[in-house]
Amino acid sequence: MIVLGIESTCDETGCAIVRNGIEILSNVVASQIDLHDTYGGVVPELACRRHVDVIIPIIQRALEEANLSLRDVDLISVAHGPGLIGALLIGLNTAKALSLALKKPLIGVNHVEAHLYAALMPHLQAMPFPSLGVVLSGGHTALVLVKGIGDYQLIGQTIDDAIGEAYDKVAKMMGLPYPGGPHIEQLAKEGDANRYPFRPGQIKNHPYNMSFSGLKTAVLYAVKGVGGRQEKAAPEQDKPHIAASFQEAALGGVVSRAIRAAEEHGCHSLVFGGGVTNNRRLRALVSDSAPHLSAYWPSKGLELDNAAMIAGLGYHTYLRRGADTLALEAVTRIGW
Ligand code: KG4
Ligand code: ZN
Repeated sequence: MIVLGIESTCDETGCAIVRNGIEILSNVVASQIDLHDTYGGVVPELACRRHVDVIIPIIQRALEEANLSLRDVDLISVAHGPGLIGALLIGLNTAKALSLALKKPLIGVNHVEAHLYAALMPHLQAMPFPSLGVVLSGGHTALVLVKGIGDYQLIGQTIDDAIGEAYDKVAKMMGLPYPGGPHIEQLAKEGDANRYPFRPGQIKNHPYNMSFSGLKTAVLYAVKGVGGRQEKAAPEQDKPHIAASFQEAALGGVVSRAIRAAEEHGCHSLVFGGGVTNNRRLRALVSDSAPHLSAYWPSKGLELDNAAMIAGLGYHTYLRRGADTLALEAVTRIGW
């Protein structure tokens, strides 16, 4: 089955062609980093305009690279949430138009679930379920018990910022470009993670929930000084130490919870998804602190938002529950 996937939940426009949920024939992504860099974050109105401009050429390129035409497509899969409403509508309405014109079935998938699928994709036959899923992206941070594709139980999640969002905001405070994650990671390499006593947030009576806003404020006070008092601001040469201390607190809090949750729920593996999985310190922390658990990471090129994970997951979702109708709606939030 040839699946055409469409991704437009935030600031990447993607189209991919995937055979039988696993074989990626093409995976084209147009990033909008240049557009949002000046603002230090995604501007929804600008994101939507860019999606409209590029979505058709991106679909054409994905077909060309796969050496296929629209007639060869058996299923249209689209991320119908969660995400920015305007951005979602552009991908969803394009998918509906294709489905209607080609008389091919339409399936809507959950973008966050697809991030986990990006790591499961090559291992599905031999995957030891249950696995503890760890979503670490710019919009979501969650621990999820994965009993199989489409069978999940939420274990914990952030109650405020997502971890990637915290990276981006901390980077902005330090005058680093958007998106900030890779820049913080780079700066942290030269820093001492023990220099600043930052701590990950704890939520009373919810050991698996997470919070990053207190940590972000602690970094703000360190960078700018308490109450904006210049004399209390950290000296320029401390920035690598701040980056390293922030990173260790943010990643450490997630990794320790993920390991505890995996042990409590009888999981022998961890499966990671989302843009923050690009971070090498995260991967080292996981292999150092959980040698007894197998860790599954997204294949190269599938860490950040992409449509291959949407097409791949769409295949399984369609086989499990059949097609959606053209009444499928864009949803800004989806529960587990
Ligand atoms: O999964 P993704 O592409 O988008 C969402 O679905 O949100 O993730 C983007 C996020 C951004 O916040 C970015 O700063 C973060 O992933 N990121 C990183 C790294 N590379 C990307 N965070 C930490 N370290 C990195 N190397
Ligand atoms: Zn994403």
